[in-house]
Amino acid sequence: MPEKWVNSGVDLHLELAATGGRRAALITALRDAVRTGRLAPGTRLPPYRALAIDLRLARNTVADAYAELVAEGWLTAVQGSGTRVADRAEPLEPSRIPKKVPGAPKPRHNLRQGQPDATSFPRAEWLAAARRALTTAPHDAFGPGDPRGRPELREALAAYLARARGVRTSPERIVVCSGFAHALRLLFPAVLPGPLAVEAYGLAFHRGIFDTAGVRTIPLALDEKGARVEDLTVPTALLTPAHQFPTGGPLHHDRRTLVVDHVRATGGLLIEDDYDGEFRYDRKPVGAVQGLDPEHVVYVGSVSKSLSPALRLGWLVLPERLVDAVLAVKGEREAWASALDQLTLAEFVTSGAYDRHIRRMRLRYRRRRDVLVAALAEHAPHVVPTGIAAGLHAVLRLPPGTEKSALKAAAWQGLALDGLAAFRHPASTMSTMDGLVVGYATPPDHAYAAAVEALCRALP
Ligand SMILES: Cc1ncc(COP(=O)(O)O)c(C=O)c1O
Repeated sequence: MPEKWVNSGVDLHLELAATGGRRAALITALRDAVRTGRLAPGTRLPPYRALAIDLRLARNTVADAYAELVAEGWLTAVQGSGTRVADRAEPLEPSRIPKKVPGAPKPRHNLRQGQPDATSFPRAEWLAAARRALTTAPHDAFGPGDPRGRPELREALAAYLARARGVRTSPERIVVCSGFAHALRLLFPAVLPGPLAVEAYGLAFHRGIFDTAGVRTIPLALDEKGARVEDLTVPTALLTPAHQFPTGGPLHHDRRTLVVDHVRATGGLLIEDDYDGEFRYDRKPVGAVQGLDPEHVVYVGSVSKSLSPALRLGWLVLPERLVDAVLAVKGEREAWASALDQLTLAEFVTSGAYDRHIRRMRLRYRRRRDVLVAALAEHAPHVVPTGIAAGLHAVLRLPPGTEKSALKAAAWQGLALDGLAAFRHPASTMSTMDGLVVGYATPPDHAYAAAVEALCRALP
């Protein structure tokens, strides 16, 4: 093991308390340094004289302090090899993080929404794309990155989004980011100060981003046609039009035009969160609202649902007038999205591997959804799954007042999942909806049937 030693008192970074005697202050400071692990076992301390000079103490004060700590077992002194931190210092204070919620057993099945099937990440195809991308990358790809993102990726995305999602754009209006959450942080408050209308049910994590940015959010009630955009009182809104998150329906086509008319008339903007637009099962995909008016919609997408949230890659498709403002927030160099991952994604998209992966996953998720729907029809026919035409989760609506007990029952069945209450905007006045949000992408294939059975057992 390499020898650890500290040259001088300056390297020890000791802060001596101003009150009380010098000797006591040095003892306390050294003891704290050992206890917190800043001075690791075996570390050799500076000689008395050196430490005394550095800390402006008398040599005897240091000698006494060392002797005291040796007596207490914090330090060891060996003739000829100086004073060292003892091998066995006091154990760290016990963690204050609660280890386990008493009562319910540890979840056996994860039915929380929010994650694609991690076992289906296309490792081989991704690796092949990375190899091709690295082999052909121009030298400038290995320099500091352009905050717009790699041109190869922006070109690939412009073509893909036009074809698959009906987005009208050119590569110049695309800014690469590290996912939807990052897009929100880039836009708010520097580019768009708010306030902002959001759906009454949505991700609390995103509401937290607005809270941190000091941007007020106004909840917009939902009904069977999606967000009630006719109730908008502010020019800017954030919506999930293709697949309302988490309740699951698409925004009705009348409302798609209505919200575009609203942002156009008020000089506002629609932020379109297209988080899982590719996964539609029962009918043709609902295209992006952005196609109706690219100058009044900021379209945001990411690979978090289509590939993996671990990649941290996303994109903003911006009205022309906002491109420079967003780039100004990003700064001079790309600091979030690795250029090499961007090149790999560009290659993955242009080679057709992305389409193939989406097709494969669409089939897989559809099959899982069908298993869930069939099991419910058989074992809990009174529970109707909703929001199942698209995405990676379903909502099981429950009779009013039963959500909490259903969650408890689910925990006892070893299931991790959330209720609709976890997604409700705290200021929303729309009537409460009870329901379970069931992510069907996450459990591995071999455990999926068991997870669905456990879910059926938990239902009221
Ligand atoms: C509603 C919603 N929006 C956006 C995203 C994507 O978030 P990100 O790109 O930050 O991972 C998710 C999760 O994947 C989501 O559930």
